[in-house]
Amino acid sequence: MRTARTIAELRGHINTWRSKGERIAFVPTMGNLHAGHIHLMSQAAHRADRVVASIFVNPMQFGANEDFTTYPRTLSADSIKLAENGVHALFAPEVAELYPRGMVHATRIEVIGLSDILCGASRPGHFTGVATVVNKFFNIVQPDIAVFGEKDYQQLLVIRRMVSDLCLPITILSVPTVREPDGLAMSSRNGYLAADQRLCAPRLYQILCAAHEHILKGERNYTLLAEQGMQLLRNAGFVPDYFTVRRKDDFLPPEPGDSQLIILAAAWLGETRLIDNIKIEM
Ligand code: PAJ
Repeated sequence: MRTARTIAELRGHINTWRSKGERIAFVPTMGNLHAGHIHLMSQAAHRADRVVASIFVNPMQFGANEDFTTYPRTLSADSIKLAENGVHALFAPEVAELYPRGMVHATRIEVIGLSDILCGASRPGHFTGVATVVNKFFNIVQPDIAVFGEKDYQQLLVIRRMVSDLCLPITILSVPTVREPDGLAMSSRNGYLAADQRLCAPRLYQILCAAHEHILKGERNYTLLAEQGMQLLRNAGFVPDYFTVRRKDDFLPPEPGDSQLIILAAAWLGETRLIDNIKIEM
């Protein structure tokens, strides 16, 4: 596996592959890799000749009071995992490589409508930071395909919308959430949980599953389901941010007859914010 710290180095490797007509898949991450990330790498490897992964803790997507400085950085262990899982190039730039003029005056990508709801409502600027850095990566790597996890479903929708609105010639592949044996969605932030919080954390997915069951059995009062979900989260020891049923492809409130839905939730356990979702196919 090649490791590139600069845009020029990475482009060198990619140009060599492109000149041979090879297809390139790209998987962006912030590192501290777990089995969920690795699953994305193997899905990418199935669909292209070369897999490029990035590890970059992107300051633009963190709020002032968020965990940018404490976010786990484990580059050596991550590099080994990537090399063992079929990744051909790792791009791990310094902040100054991607934001040479700082962030305040940097050009940014704003995905209107999807960026300020749900997670975007409590994390202002977050999805603009995500869209901006992913767009930079897309311009640097120019992949045929890019792979994202459904765990961060709103992020996936933001990226899909950006690709569509900006006419980017990239196929976006989404991969289902990889879970711990007890159902908790794998996340780099799970490591923040204290032992008692870790025991409680799987309740988030269980409460989503219960709402999913109710809908499959015919419940259509989504407002009531959302209120119940919020209350169940509180009873379980969470401070819920949102629990909501939306249309899967545009996050609009469901209309009677809509069949492609998703239940999304975000909730705090102490200082840790967990998110999860479950799709409903009716
Ligand atoms: P990060 O949280 O490191 O996630 C990188 C990719 O892994 C994302 O596409 C995310 O949805 C996926 N992922 C995380 N946990 C997963 C799980 N349990 N199952 C399946 N996929 C999972 O998301 C980001 O980084 C950043 O916002 C990024 C897109 C890299 C932009 O900075």
